[in-house]
Amino acid sequence: MKKICIVYYSISGSTADIAGILGHELAASGFSVETAKASDSIDLGRFDAVIIGSPMHMGNVRPPINAFIHTHADQLSRNKVFFYYSLLYVTRISNMPDFTIPCHVDPSLGLKTIEKKDASGFDRHHSMDYYLKRLYHQFRGVRLAGVAFFNGRLNIQALSLPERIFMNIIIRLTAKEKEGNFLNPEAARAWTRDIASLM
Ligand SMILES: Cc1cc2nc3c(=O)[nH]c(=O)nc-3n(C[C@H](O)[C@H](O)[C@H](O)COP(=O)(O)O)c2cc1C
Repeated sequence: MKKICIVYYSISGSTADIAGILGHELAASGFSVETAKASDSIDLGRFDAVIIGSPMHMGNVRPPINAFIHTHADQLSRNKVFFYYSLLYVTRISNMPDFTIPCHVDPSLGLKTIEKKDASGFDRHHSMDYYLKRLYHQFRGVRLAGVAFFNGRLNIQALSLPERIFMNIIIRLTAKEKEGNFLNPEAARAWTRDIASLM
């Protein structure tokens, strides 16, 4: 039986909930699954694959996930590694090269392709191309087997004061991210079928 470890960090709870859905579905498909927080001490050498989940944080993974990747970089280069983001907004800029790894995008995010000349700075910094470029940099030395983007949740009260102020500005200025729970469990369930086929 193949073993999968799901590691996550979460603030408003959606990345954690997605980890739970992935774990439940993969276990039902016959995998042995363990779920852990990024701060837990884990021996990744026991697993065939590792799925890492983070809230999107200004185009990057959250610092505890960055620290996790850094600490386990050596072992992760030997595991099969999948990654998912919980986020609120993603777009695609036209004329960008095709992605070299399988990408799964939650349909409820309503991904749109925008002409490069029409894309605002906000769109460019919230595009799949930009997010993936940052992700490759964060996972340098680790080959990703698949990446997913899931609609998440924003609970302003759960954030630190500087982040509350930052997010309130983003919400007012762009109207593209808003407070609420947008989690779409079916998208997470669908991704487990891709993962199973790549194991
Ligand atoms: C400081 C900050 C920066 C964020 N940056 C982005 C971003 O660049 N793109 C995006 O789509 N969502 C962004 N978000 C929204 C979170 O990714 C989203 O709320 C996520 O679902 C939270 O995951 P959680 O419920 O596991 O905490 C940001 C949120 C905060 C607080």
